[in-house]
Amino acid sequence: MLKRKSSLKIINKVSTFKNLIKKLHNKKNRKPIILIPTMGALHQGHLSLIEKGKKIGGYTIASIFINPIQFNDKNDLKNYPIALQDDIDKLNRLKVDYLFIPKIEDIFEKNFQTTVTVNDLQKNLCGMHRPGHFNGVTTIVIKLFNIVKPDIAIFGKKDLQQLIIIKRMVKDLNLDIKIIEGRTIRERSGLALSSRNKLLTKTNYHKASKIYLGLKMAKNQFLNGRNKSIYLKNKLIKFFKSEGLNNIEYVQIVNQEKLEENAIVKKGDVIVVALKLGKIRLIDNLKL
Ligand code: PAF
Repeated sequence: MLKRKSSLKIINKVSTFKNLIKKLHNKKNRKPIILIPTMGALHQGHLSLIEKGKKIGGYTIASIFINPIQFNDKNDLKNYPIALQDDIDKLNRLKVDYLFIPKIEDIFEKNFQTTVTVNDLQKNLCGMHRPGHFNGVTTIVIKLFNIVKPDIAIFGKKDLQQLIIIKRMVKDLNLDIKIIEGRTIRERSGLALSSRNKLLTKTNYHKASKIYLGLKMAKNQFLNGRNKSIYLKNKLIKFFKSEGLNNIEYVQIVNQEKLEENAIVKKGDVIVVALKLGKIRLIDNLKL
């Protein structure tokens, strides 16, 4: 157990956590259990999800676990930012009830061999560029759901494909968990908050702020009557290149149900983008 300053209870062991959850579930007039899963290095985006949970009223539980099986790139895992004491301070300030920080060997025991796959939704976009990533995400999320047994779980819209995949999994597996979405929090410049932003050089940080500018430009084009997907995508790619954002993984305009592209863009579709600045991979999206 880590030293704690105030009311936040930090639990590392899966068995201890499961006992706690049993107790919470057995309470008379029990309050909802609200889970906000994270990988730590918490920023305002995470904190806004937690604030959303706090507003619902219930037991708020945050988890911090850098899930190795969702990293397709060893260096990305090695360099993933860690700021545990800072995270604990932030969660304390928000009066989160419990923080679950499981140890890797307690989550993935020797001989661990079961994974959960949401088939089609994980094939394109980030799934295409990060083989195995979403398999890793759905597997850890279902494990966290089984340990924490939440009534509600909150995920950010910045990771749109992840959110849609998790919602599909919850539906397909008949889980009694309500998934709540949290909006993307941005810096003043428009850059979507991400734990990986910390790893950007100053120059790349400046370039990264142009991603949202480009998304807004494409949205304006759409609102002004341009509805051909190919036109909007080319316009956006051209803009990114003119701003030095050359290493583009994908720019697509997809529907929210199936994450599929259509030649003609409709209101409610989402422009989704992934690109690399140096070694840092950034994603963003904007609903039209
Ligand atoms: O979005 C994240 O931080 C992670 O993918 C999640 C949902 C905590 C699973 O490891």
